Amino acid sequence: MNCKTTLDYRFSVAPMMGVTTSSARYMYRLISKEAILFTEMIASQALYRGNNDKLLFKQETESPVVLQVGGSDRELLKYSVDLANNKNYQGINLNVGCPSKKVSKGKMGACLMKESDLVRDCLSSMIQGTNMDVSVKCRIGVDEFESYEFFRDFIHNVAQSGCQLFFVHARKAYLKGLDPKKNRTIPILKYDYVHRVKKEFPHLKIFINGGLNTISDCIEQMKFVDGVMVGRAIQSNPFFLENVDNVFYGKKIQLANKEFIIKKYFDYVKSNIDQVSTYELLSPLLALCFGVPGAKKFKQQVNDLIRARDIATLENTYLKLIAA
Ligand SMILES: Cc1cc2nc3c(=O)[nH]c(=O)nc-3n(C[C@H](O)[C@H](O)[C@H](O)COP(=O)(O)O)c2cc1C
Repeated sequence: MNCKTTLDYRFSVAPMMGVTTSSARYMYRLISKEAILFTEMIASQALYRGNNDKLLFKQETESPVVLQVGGSDRELLKYSVDLANNKNYQGINLNVGCPSKKVSKGKMGACLMKESDLVRDCLSSMIQGTNMDVSVKCRIGVDEFESYEFFRDFIHNVAQSGCQLFFVHARKAYLKGLDPKKNRTIPILKYDYVHRVKKEFPHLKIFINGGLNTISDCIEQMKFVDGVMVGRAIQSNPFFLENVDNVFYGKKIQLANKEFIIKKYFDYVKSNIDQVSTYELLSPLLALCFGVPGAKKFKQQVNDLIRARDIATLENTYLKLIAA
């Protein structure tokens, strides 16, 4: 079985609710031309009932972007694929990893790891009639189902759908007792499960996620899998992406000039200030000030400027920070 993919997933920016907004993706794309960007998860129900133009808003410059959806209703998921096609997304991904109570209640996310037949059937219906990449993002287990054999059988069964692209957060999820934030730190990372599954199913494309904090961590993982996916390290510093095109895609390019990128991003902020919330516009930059000397004071100053919508002073403040 050949793996049909249109995108090169050697490096992806993980889907993150409230983080990987269209504005953040605009910023990330200024830094890396090649990384594959994911949207936040959008429930397939919401896509069916809600304002699609708003929910699926994306700027052309962001591409390639994969739309992440949540759900387990085959018809609704198929509908989401059609929308993604129409709105010019380059791929669609099914979330089988989110452990939040609300998401589980809607029969979405990590609870579906216990229902591999259902996940297989959902993906089958998503794949039918589309040329777009259809992928899944899952965990390595859930609750008491934590053996390697459980994970392997899940992948094996789900792959019967024809889906060959698996993004794996290398932790199990606890559906009870841990909130989503703790579910990203407390369950132990088991990279070996992901490496083993790639060995057992070499025809599948396996991408590893979870706890990759440096470019070296990512390079190390490329010995075992087809690609890496990074979330929080990019949330806290978008300039993590500055080496990606060179290291992962072999593009001989000069390192991004941070000052140029900040200025370009503030041009974007200024032209969108009346349409997009100030928080969404500024949040890709907010975490940049964590960990610098005087971070608390700096954060306060930035928050005050955001509240006052004093974009010119904010821009200067960030340019000074970058220069320092
Ligand atoms: C704020 C936040 C929101 C997230 N939202 C989603 C989401 O919408 N869909 C999803 O599949 N994972 C979501 N995740 C999980 C990440 O995609 C990723 O699997 C996880 O953070 C582990 O990767 P990391 O250690 O590189 O951050 C979220 C993570 C964070 C920090």
